[in-house]
Amino acid sequence: MKNKIEISAPGKLMLFGEHAVVYGGPCIVTAVNQRMRVVVETTKDREIELKAPEVGLKHFKDSVSASLDRLPKGARFVFSAVKNFNGRFELLSGLRIRTNSDFSNEFGFGSSSSVTVCVAKALSAIFDVDLDNKELFDICYKSVLDVQGVGSGFDIAAAVWGGTLYFVGGGKKIAQVSKKELPLVVGYTGIKADTATLVKEVAFLKKSKPRIVSSIFRTIDFIVGDARRLIVNGNFKRLGELANINQGLLDSLGVNTTKLSNLIIAAKDAGAYGAKLSGAGGGDCMIAFVPERKRKFVEKAIEKAGGKVISVKNGAEGVRIEK
Ligand code: MEV
Repeated sequence: MKNKIEISAPGKLMLFGEHAVVYGGPCIVTAVNQRMRVVVETTKDREIELKAPEVGLKHFKDSVSASLDRLPKGARFVFSAVKNFNGRFELLSGLRIRTNSDFSNEFGFGSSSSVTVCVAKALSAIFDVDLDNKELFDICYKSVLDVQGVGSGFDIAAAVWGGTLYFVGGGKKIAQVSKKELPLVVGYTGIKADTATLVKEVAFLKKSKPRIVSSIFRTIDFIVGDARRLIVNGNFKRLGELANINQGLLDSLGVNTTKLSNLIIAAKDAGAYGAKLSGAGGGDCMIAFVPERKRKFVEKAIEKAGGKVISVKNGAEGVRIEK
C-alpha cells in the first residue's frame, strides 16, 4: 500500500454522435492533452479532505458516508468515486485529495469525468487493487450516474482509454479508432453550457415527436459509422462533410445557438472542410476539420466571429500515474 500518489487524466472533445449516444447509439470522442491532475494521500481519520480550487473548494471535509446531495456541487464527483470504490473494495483510511486542472471547467472538456477517473485510479493504486480499464470505467460511470442521473459515459471512456474512441452508449462497445492527431481547430463560445438541462430538453422533444427524433438519431448513428471509417482512412475532407450534416441534425434537435452558428460558419467560410458543435450544445465549444494550409485562416476567422481558439492536441494518452 502506498500513502501518496499523483494521477492525471485527459479532458475530451466529442467529435460525432452527441445526444444520440444517450439513447444507446455510437459516438466518436477524442481525448485532449489538457489534463486533470489529482494528488491523493491517505490520512489517519475516516474523513475525506478535499482541496479543489477550480470549483471553489479551498478546504472541504466530510465523511465518506455523507449523502451526495448534501455536498457542495464541486465535491460530488470526488465523493461519489470514493463511495463506489469503497462499495467494492474496502477503504482502509481517510483521504486528502487535491485537484488541479490544466483547463477551465467552463470549456466542457469534462473536468467532472476526468476527476472521477483520477480518484478511482488513485485508490486502486494506493490500495493495490488490480482494475482493468473496463472495471475502472464501470466504477466511474456509476459514480457519474449517481451524481447527475444522465449521461452516456463517453467522457469517462475518453479519460480512461485516451486516443480517439468509438463508444456505444453506456459502454456497450469501446474501441480505439486512432491514436493519431486529427486536423482539428477548437473554438470556445465563451458560454458555459449545462449538459443535464440540454439532455432533458432533447428528451422532451423526443417524447413529443418520437418518430421524427428517433429517425434523426438513426441518421446520426449512420454518420458515426461512416466517420469511424473516414478517420481510419484519413479522409478529412469527407469527414468535414459529415460534420456539416451532423451539425444540421443537432440544429434540428434545438441545441444549436447563434454564437455556435457564427463560429461554425466563419470556420467554413475560411476554408475548413466542415464544422459542428461539440458536446451538448447551448454553448461550450465548436470544432472544425481543417486542411493544414488553412489552419491559421480558420483560427483567425473564429476569433473575428467572437470565439476563443483553444490550443489543444487530440488523441491524447488516457489516465496515468504521474508519481
Ligand atoms: C455531452 O457532452 C454529450 C451528450 O451526448 C451527453 C452524453 O453523452 O452524456 C449530450
